[in-house]
Amino acid sequence: MKKYWKYVKPYLPAFIIGPILMITEVIGEVLLPSLMADIINIGAANQDVPYIIGRGIIMVLTAVVMMIGGVGGAYFSAKASISFAADLREDVFKKVQQFSFSNIDTFSTGSLVTRLTNDITQVQNVLMMMLRLMLRAPGMLIGAVIMAFVMNASLATIILIVIPLLGLAIACVIRVGFPRFDTMQKKIDRLNSTVQEALTNVRVIKSFVRGSYEEERFQESNRDLKEASLHAFRVVILMMPIMMLAMNVTTLAVVWFGGKQILAGSMPVGDLTAFTTYIVQVLMSLMMLAMVLLQSSRAVASLKRINEVLHTEIDLTDEKAARKDAEVTNGKIEFKNVSFRYYKNNHEKVLDDISFVVEPGQTVGIIGSTGSGKTTLVQMIPRLYDVDDGQVLVDDIDVRDYSLKHLRNGVGMVLQKNVLFSGTILENLQWGDEEAGEEQVMEAARAAQADDFVKSFTDGYETELGQGGVNVSGGQKQRLCIARALLKKPKILILDDSTSAVDTATEKRIRESFGTTLKDTTKLIIAQRITSVMDSDLILVLEEGRIAGMGKHEDLMSACIPYQEIYNSQMEAAKEAGALQNVKEVQA
Ligand SMILES: Nc1ncnc2c1ncn2[C@@H]1O[C@H](COP(=O)(O)OP(=O)(O)OP(=O)(O)O)[C@@H](O)[C@H]1O
Ligand SMILES: [Mg+2]
Repeated sequence: MKKYWKYVKPYLPAFIIGPILMITEVIGEVLLPSLMADIINIGAANQDVPYIIGRGIIMVLTAVVMMIGGVGGAYFSAKASISFAADLREDVFKKVQQFSFSNIDTFSTGSLVTRLTNDITQVQNVLMMMLRLMLRAPGMLIGAVIMAFVMNASLATIILIVIPLLGLAIACVIRVGFPRFDTMQKKIDRLNSTVQEALTNVRVIKSFVRGSYEEERFQESNRDLKEASLHAFRVVILMMPIMMLAMNVTTLAVVWFGGKQILAGSMPVGDLTAFTTYIVQVLMSLMMLAMVLLQSSRAVASLKRINEVLHTEIDLTDEKAARKDAEVTNGKIEFKNVSFRYYKNNHEKVLDDISFVVEPGQTVGIIGSTGSGKTTLVQMIPRLYDVDDGQVLVDDIDVRDYSLKHLRNGVGMVLQKNVLFSGTILENLQWGDEEAGEEQVMEAARAAQADDFVKSFTDGYETELGQGGVNVSGGQKQRLCIARALLKKPKILILDDSTSAVDTATEKRIRESFGTTLKDTTKLIIAQRITSVMDSDLILVLEEGRIAGMGKHEDLMSACIPYQEIYNSQMEAAKEAGALQNVKEVQA
């Protein structure tokens, strides 16, 4: 509870005023029936019109005060709970932003979205309900019981029989309802994950004609949710008839015994009307309490899920960094016996004892079969993951000693699975450098060979991109991503298979432009095509997480068998495709 104090504190007045204003409703509710009884017992019995009017005016005034209190109470309760939820949501979002890649791997996106939206809204709604009812329901209960006893103690004993019976019934309902709501929330999670995945990957699904499969998956989640909800709400639905039954039976008993008392002359008629109203109020307040309890079981389930996010330990921080002020200035990279595995228990190493040095300004090619660990290797440099053993040094400082901000500012990376955001091309490129003017943006685009095709669009740099960059081709998207990374003017530039969709001639031009515009930047280029890395200062050949060969093209051709194999297979393929001309051009 203590950790939620900070979300309450700024809105403490609203948190207090809300419930207090609701008490005016209680006072009104308790007063009105007895005023009514007075009108019947005294005013009507004596045909005293001024008395009736006087009481009537008091009743109207009470109702007005009740209304003002009710509206104010509702307003402050809403204000308190909505502000609470907004602050909480902000914190959860901030936390998710801090997540390391491996933290993200443990939650599904759908689940995070549910937690940020549905779960927090759930908490907000229950909080609002609690603020409105936490004083009102018990207040009404106590007030009505007291008034009933003051009015007619012998008749009021009926209440004492009904309350424990009803309390028992409510307790049973809640006991059964609690776990059911828990399950329901989990099903919402699954449904959201399914929807999220199906919507973000709608293109893949369509191209594989997996629509009906996805539909089935959705239907299954949806059915599951429906059943879980019905299962949970069946209990809630049960509550209404139980209450109504209790209310009717009690009213009947009151009328029966009250009627006898009236006939015996020991009770005025007006008291009976008031009395039945008090009975209804007692039962209503019990029902409200039951509802709050039941709803709060849902909120508790949601809070637990929110806490899971808030309490996730970020396994990659720069809190212990020794050189927080250091910045990447030269771009020297050194791997010292680096080992890494994604799953820390008993799985095979994805990187195994990797060592190499890259001098500032050099171009390094990284090549190797798919799954050999190329992406994993370069992700160690901007600390997207941390090494298990060994060290990664940038400018002779361990990457763990930099502040994450400085380190990642110094390292530009075009990820293998890269995305653009909705917005104009210009806005997207300025992601790399917010302050970059149009001229700088165009310069970067030219270096990435993107300028020509961007200018060919009618809106040029103002062209709106769809979500994820859907309205540009794969190769165009890659070039825009490169331009975006170039704008960061990084000391180290990593291209992870970033020109795979670009034709060889354009790719060659990109490499050439790097030679002039990025002379001092250290460049790491992962590629499938040997032609993409052939003229690098250093080529690393990876095989199953180990370095199978290292050196220049000529050295590897004479000494590294895996490299020769890749070269020969690609040359053969090129020959078969009749594209040898292309390769020669690049070689020349
Ligand atoms: N986030 C992850 N969680 C668990 N395992 C992973 C993760 N990313 C990659 N792996 C595994 O690590 C190994 C190396 O993957 P990596 O992405 O580094 O290969 P790669 O050389 O870049 O392949 P490609 O050429 O296909 O891009 C693979 O066996 C892969 O299954
Ligand atoms: Mg990869």
